[in-house]
Amino acid sequence: MGRHKFPKTMYIKLAIGRYLSSSAVNIEVPKGHFSVYVGENNMRRFIVPLAYLKHPSFQRLLNLAEEEFGYDHPMGGLTFPCTEETFIKLVQNIRLFNQTRNILHFIKPKSPFSSHNLHIPTQCTINQPHKHLSLSHHNWRKKSRIFPATCCNGNKHDHHIADYSTTIENNVNDKNVALNETEAEKEAWRLLKEAVVTYCGNPVGTVAANDSGDKSPLNYDQVFIRDFVPSGLAFLLKGEGEIVRNFLLHTLQLQSWEKTVDCYSPGQGLMPASFKIRTVPLDDTKVEEVLDPDFGESAIGRVAPVDSGLWWIILLRAYTKITGDYALQERVDVQTGIKLILNLCLSDGFDMFPSLLVTDGSCMIDRRMGIHGHPLEIQSLFYSALRCAREMLAVDEGSKNLVKTVNNRLSALSFHIREYYWLDMKKINEIYRYKTEEYSTEAINKFNIYPEQIPYWLMEWIPEEGGYMIGNLQPAHMDFRFFTLGNIWSIVSSLSTPKQNKSILNLLEAKWDDLVGDMPLKIIYPALEQEEWRIITGSDPKNTPWSYHNGGSWPTLLWQFTLACIKMGRIELARKAVDIAENRLYADHWPEYYDTRSGKFIGKQSRLYQTWTIAGLLTSKMLLANPEKASLLFWEEDYDLLEICVCALNKTGKKLCARGAAKSQILV
Ligand code: GLC
Repeated sequence: MGRHKFPKTMYIKLAIGRYLSSSAVNIEVPKGHFSVYVGENNMRRFIVPLAYLKHPSFQRLLNLAEEEFGYDHPMGGLTFPCTEETFIKLVQNIRLFNQTRNILHFIKPKSPFSSHNLHIPTQCTINQPHKHLSLSHHNWRKKSRIFPATCCNGNKHDHHIADYSTTIENNVNDKNVALNETEAEKEAWRLLKEAVVTYCGNPVGTVAANDSGDKSPLNYDQVFIRDFVPSGLAFLLKGEGEIVRNFLLHTLQLQSWEKTVDCYSPGQGLMPASFKIRTVPLDDTKVEEVLDPDFGESAIGRVAPVDSGLWWIILLRAYTKITGDYALQERVDVQTGIKLILNLCLSDGFDMFPSLLVTDGSCMIDRRMGIHGHPLEIQSLFYSALRCAREMLAVDEGSKNLVKTVNNRLSALSFHIREYYWLDMKKINEIYRYKTEEYSTEAINKFNIYPEQIPYWLMEWIPEEGGYMIGNLQPAHMDFRFFTLGNIWSIVSSLSTPKQNKSILNLLEAKWDDLVGDMPLKIIYPALEQEEWRIITGSDPKNTPWSYHNGGSWPTLLWQFTLACIKMGRIELARKAVDIAENRLYADHWPEYYDTRSGKFIGKQSRLYQTWTIAGLLTSKMLLANPEKASLLFWEEDYDLLEICVCALNKTGKKLCARGAAKSQILV
């Protein structure tokens, strides 16, 4: 790690403060501007609007300058030792970005989400020296830091998609594993490679769906952050790390743009839901490629994708573990990216609980489905992202408080979920006999749950053996629906106890017909019907009962299920599910989802050739073939975290903590 002494904002303040008080300044700087020295041999002074400092390209430049000079800038004022040309180009890009945004706002001042057409130029290359900007100091090149450059130019009619397939083919196919591939796997690899999207000739992601017969792909022609995770894992497990590295670095460039919805900007650090590569004509013959992110404002849910940043951190750790390339996570820009995501998630708000408070549709289920508040899927991703961050953050003066906060949150979160989200026959019986309206911190019925809430289906459905984490919890509200991803990821991340992990898989086995049926795996069980569907989904015609998010079956969930089964030594369960899926997916052209109670039909509005369906199967099969690799992707119980929690509970002296025996059952 380089010298990273202060949080970035502080550095900016210090650097400017220093400049403003510097005696080297003898020409008046207009209000709202600052000056900077640029150049290699003969330094030139530039006056730049302060607003540009918010731009990530500028911030990265500041980080690099800090690394280089600390606070001893050679000219006595803020100095960037890059070429003038480079600097001017950078400023032009920022200006272009600002102008475009102003124009969009001017044309459609009242239209919601008016910035959806915004083109955001980001840097073209990650580590190809000939395309790097010419930075003056040799160390900068040696460290191969990302440096924001102009977008690349190409000829008109260049394609972003499928160009990469041959490159990957060469890298991937000759890696011995190909020998025993089934027909389905062979087709899946071909399709996955065809789904690869390139930016300036480099692979950077995979489109969500790649069906040539689909005349209206909506936003399925974009690279979704969450959808890329199984693609990334499939490539990593095959020994192909470049696309994942590029994806991680390019999405990092999209983070924290001043994305504006009318007059409001979401928090810095937000990762987009998806991005697209657009081609912008420069003149008659030349075009420019730009990355155009969608932060959720164009998708139907119109909601910020909280899971994107969490998945990004999880994929970064997977990349590091599988490739052994630790240098990537140590880069200043990557460390800053992790911190920005954490700051967003850990910032103080009005929350009363350690679980992350989000709006409906902020994850894989990205349309209204009644999962606002503290949905399990977000909590389990949050927990594992915090565990990844704890592993990856470089601990120094600047980050030690953050690391402490992460540790405390991890302990509190695991206690909260283990204790209050867990449901089995015994717990239902407890809830059934709850006293309500207890006005006290000593309340047994801590969330004032009215027993009448227990739904009829649950009494019949809950098996004697097994249990699960409920979907959501807040005062007077328990969402008893079974959410597959949240439960499986609780196992993978060790958010739940080893005993609970076992019980969740027992329940999945006992309720196989409902949760696996003809196509693994049901996204939610059961579906919302009738009045409940009307009120909660707002009569969403895509989310009708037992379809899509509302009780549809999603083959992409196979890979997480396989990982959980391998972790728990239940490999036969994963094999059974993969066997059901493989031939059918191949025959049905890899649909996005299936409908009906058992997943009998291809989803009504399902896309075909859905990339995360394809990648999910490939990743599952590779994990089954190499179970030892799976251990790089899951987490074991962390006893240090439990200890922090037990200590904290004892200090509170609450009656709850006196239930020692019960507590130790829940915690371990
Ligand atoms: C749907 C899914 C979402 C996915 C996207 C692209 O919107 O709900 O989870 O990321 O399609 O496949």
